[in-house]
Amino acid sequence: MLATALSATLAGLQAHLVRVEVEGRRGPPYFELVGLAEAAVRESRVRVKSALAQCGLFLWECQVVVNLAPADVKKTGSGFDLAIAAAAAGALGHVPAEALAGVLFIGELSLEGTVQPLRGVLPQLLGARARGVKRAIVPRANEAEASLVEGVDVRTVGTLGELLEALRGGPELPVAVGAAELPRGQGTLDDLSEVRGQSGARRALEIAAAGGHNLLMIGPPGAGKTMLARRLPGLLPPLSTEDALEVTAIHSIAGLLSSTRLSRERPFRAPHHTVSEVGLVGGGDGPRPGEVSLSHHGVLFLDELAEFRRSALEALRQPLEDGVITISRAYAKATFPARLLLVCAMNPCPCGWMGDGTRRCACTTDRVRAYRAKMSGPLLDRIDVHVVLPPVEVAALQGAARGEASAVVRARVEGARAVQAQRVGRGEATAMTNASLPPRDLERIAALCADGARMLAAAVERLALSARAYGKVLRVARTIADLDGSTAIRPPHVAEAIGLRVLDRGALAAAA
Ligand SMILES: Nc1ncnc2c1ncn2[C@@H]1O[C@H](COP(=O)(O)OP(=O)(O)OP(=O)(O)O)[C@@H](O)[C@H]1O
Ligand SMILES: [Mg+2]
Repeated sequence: MLATALSATLAGLQAHLVRVEVEGRRGPPYFELVGLAEAAVRESRVRVKSALAQCGLFLWECQVVVNLAPADVKKTGSGFDLAIAAAAAGALGHVPAEALAGVLFIGELSLEGTVQPLRGVLPQLLGARARGVKRAIVPRANEAEASLVEGVDVRTVGTLGELLEALRGGPELPVAVGAAELPRGQGTLDDLSEVRGQSGARRALEIAAAGGHNLLMIGPPGAGKTMLARRLPGLLPPLSTEDALEVTAIHSIAGLLSSTRLSRERPFRAPHHTVSEVGLVGGGDGPRPGEVSLSHHGVLFLDELAEFRRSALEALRQPLEDGVITISRAYAKATFPARLLLVCAMNPCPCGWMGDGTRRCACTTDRVRAYRAKMSGPLLDRIDVHVVLPPVEVAALQGAARGEASAVVRARVEGARAVQAQRVGRGEATAMTNASLPPRDLERIAALCADGARMLAAAVERLALSARAYGKVLRVARTIADLDGSTAIRPPHVAEAIGLRVLDRGALAAAA
């Protein structure tokens, strides 16, 4: 007899539906699995046989052929076990084959028949929903993320025995229920008001948040670079439901779901400088998403930029430009989104004290040059805003005056983002920022007045700005005007934007 169940496989964040067809009949024992399956899927045979035996369903005198269709989609992972076991039980007449129709089964089996949790359940359910699947059965341990998917009747299962009972018309499997949404601002968010002084860097942070501009902070040790970067996610508008689901789906594939609730907090990732290229952009087994995708819709913070491996930084160039990363595999390509705000921090020199009025820098010119050369030009070219932080003055640390709170700055950022989204006329405020304006829109959206154009022309000449840097100054000037509530970009906006090209201005060298 033939029985069919549905399952799914992932290529990056994208889910493909897989039809699991099982043909079963009496005869000398035989178990074959076909359909472009990788090793982990082929091993399914062993687990399924043993798990079925635990339920009293022995395959000693059965011939079983499993076909995973479509044949041209690479099947990865161990999540087909449940579908194969269910369809085998159907094919051998132990459960009614009709009970399987249209149901998506995701789950790995242990030899004793328990259903094991899996990575990537959320994106598989989202993909299945998009293809019209109405009913799904997932491991009970994945209940929380599965409950986030609306419009699908998702049930959870703990053992194969429980599933077979339910398919035979026994007690129904429980519906997946999750905890309520995580309220915003609870727990880990640090507030901007804790940062004393550093008005220039705070302003740069606000501009970066408002326009989605990548940011580089340069300053001596203990000036507050790390502190400021950690407060950037709190300046960004909360994630929309759709974006929050996407972020959670990526973390699900990485096996990093820290919370059982949907969080609208922007992700913040700060990989250590020893991170590998694969760790940063993704790859390896699965493949898994890298830091660029884990910080999708949020902030990727590279602290101590000069310490990172050059090859890892070079690998960032493409995803920073495209907002997606494609990992090529033998049979398929996996694509993960990677639209993030990059924040980098570094000291001005190896000892950290160059340009400091009170301490002497002990670095030789050669060491400073070697240190700076570690930052690749093309990466720096992708950073719109540079800012130099002075050491914090003791008066600022001891004074009663506190800076603005994150919520106040965030309100301005949200206002500026709303203007951007409206102007572009598509997508949401979170999706379309000045930093990601395509060049064809730039001329229309960031038009300069005659004085502004003259000012920028002079800066290009003086600072030898590249064409890309020119576009970046325009975009940053647009953001500054948006924060100012101005439809036109006026000369002060251009001047401030030029001022944020510290590295082009050579201000760092001058400070030495
Ligand atoms: N502007 C500031 N206002 C208040 N506290 C500050 C400020 N800057 C630094 N601090 C204090 O100093 C500590 C270290 O700051 P932080 O780690 O941000 O420095 P940094 O610039 O990243 O230094 P490094 O170059 O060594 O990484 C903070 O935890 C905080 O207690
Ligand atoms: Mg630091």
